[in-house]
Amino acid sequence: MNKGKIKLGLIGGGPNSFIGPVHRIAAYMGERYDLVGGVFDIDYEQSKAFAEKLELDASRAYKDLDDFISGELSRPADERIEAVSILTPNFLHYPMAKRLVGEGFHVICEKPITMTAAEAVELAELVEQKGVVFSLTHTYTGYPMVRQMKAMIAAGALGKIHKMDAQYYQGWINPFIHEKDKRAGVWRLDPAKSGQSCCFGDIGVHAFNLLEYTTGLTINKVLADINTLYEDNPLDVDGTALVRTTDGVRGIVRASQIATGEENNIVVTVYGDKAGLRWEQENPTYLKFMEEGKPAQILKPGNPYLSEFSLESTKIAPGHPEGLFDAMGNIYSGTAQAIRKESYRDGAFPTVQDGVRGMNFIEAVLESSKNGQVWVSI
Ligand code: NAI
Repeated sequence: MNKGKIKLGLIGGGPNSFIGPVHRIAAYMGERYDLVGGVFDIDYEQSKAFAEKLELDASRAYKDLDDFISGELSRPADERIEAVSILTPNFLHYPMAKRLVGEGFHVICEKPITMTAAEAVELAELVEQKGVVFSLTHTYTGYPMVRQMKAMIAAGALGKIHKMDAQYYQGWINPFIHEKDKRAGVWRLDPAKSGQSCCFGDIGVHAFNLLEYTTGLTINKVLADINTLYEDNPLDVDGTALVRTTDGVRGIVRASQIATGEENNIVVTVYGDKAGLRWEQENPTYLKFMEEGKPAQILKPGNPYLSEFSLESTKIAPGHPEGLFDAMGNIYSGTAQAIRKESYRDGAFPTVQDGVRGMNFIEAVLESSKNGQVWVSI
C-alpha cells in the first residue's frame, strides 16, 4: 500500500495556463503531494521545457495521455503517479478522466466535469466500480467562511431556510463578444471545446454548487432565461435561473460574463426564518450573519467561535487574509485524506456526484431557456 506523499501528475496546467499555478501551489500547501510528471501543455516542447524549469525527471514529461499512462504503468507500483489533475479545456475532461479512472488513477478534475450529463453519470459509475477517489475542483467550497456557512446552516443557525440567492458576475467577455474576430480566439465560446454552455458551464455551475453545498438542499427544478447576446454566437454569456429545491425552497442563480467591469463577483446568500448569511468571494474573510431584530455581525476566519470545519480550513492566525490558492489547497488536502483512506469531513472536497448534479443543472438551464422559459426538472 502506498503511503507518504501522494505522487501527483498534471494534464494541462502548463506554462501559460490560467488555473495551472493555482493547482500546483495548492497541492503543496498541505504538504501531502509531490508533483512528479505529466502532460503539462498541448505542445510537447513546451511541456518538456516546463518540466525542466520545475526540475522534474525529464522522462516524466510525457507527449500525450497514452504516453503518460504507458510510461507510468511500466514503473514499479510504489514509484507510480497515484493521482492526476486534469486542467485542460472542458472537452478533454471526460475522455481523459475516463481513461485515467479506468487505469486506477485517482483523479482531481476541473469543472465542468464533462460535456454532457450522460457522460457524467457514466463517469460516476466507473469511479464507483474502480474504487478510486474523484475530486471536482469547485474551488469556492474550500474557503473557510463558506465552510462556516455550511456548518452554521447544518446546525440550524438560520432556522428554516426559505430563500437563497447565488450570483457569479464577470465582465471579461465583454470586449471579445462584440467583435466576431476576437470571439474566435476564446475557447470558452467554441462549443467544440467549451461544451453546450459558456457562461453557465463556466461559472453558473459554481453558483449552483455553492447553493447546494452551503444549504445541503437539493435543487430539483429550474426556470432559466439565457442570453447569447448575438444570434451568431451559439453559447450563453449571461443568464438567470430561478430554482426550487425538493422541499419547495425558492432561489435564484445569476451568472454573467458581460457584467461590464465585474471581476469575480460571487455572492451567495441564504435566508431562513431566524437569520441570513452572506458571503462574497472578493471579500472572502468576511461572513455576514444577519439575525432577525439584531445588528448584523461579521464573522472572520481563525476565531474560536467558528466551527471545527472552518477552523481546520484556516492555515494562519486571524487577520492574515487567505484566498483562492488556500481554498484550492483545502480541497487538495481533503482529497489527500480520502486517497490515504483517512477520515474526512462531509464537504472536504466536491465529488463526482457534484459533477453529475452540475451537468444536470446546466442541461436543465439550456432546455428551460430553449423551450421558452419553462420549469424543467433536474
Ligand atoms: P487555459 O486555456 O488557460 O489552459 C489550458 C491548458 O491546457 C494549457 O496549458 C494547454 O496547453 C493545456 N492543454 C490543452 N490541450 C491539452 C492536451 N491535449 N494535453 C495536455 N494539455 C493540454 O485554460 P484555463 O482557464 O486554465 O482552464 C482550464 C480548465 O480549468 C477549464 O476546464 C476551466 O473550466 C477550469 N477552470 C476552473 C476554475 C475554478 O475556479 N475551478 C477557474 C478557471 C478555470
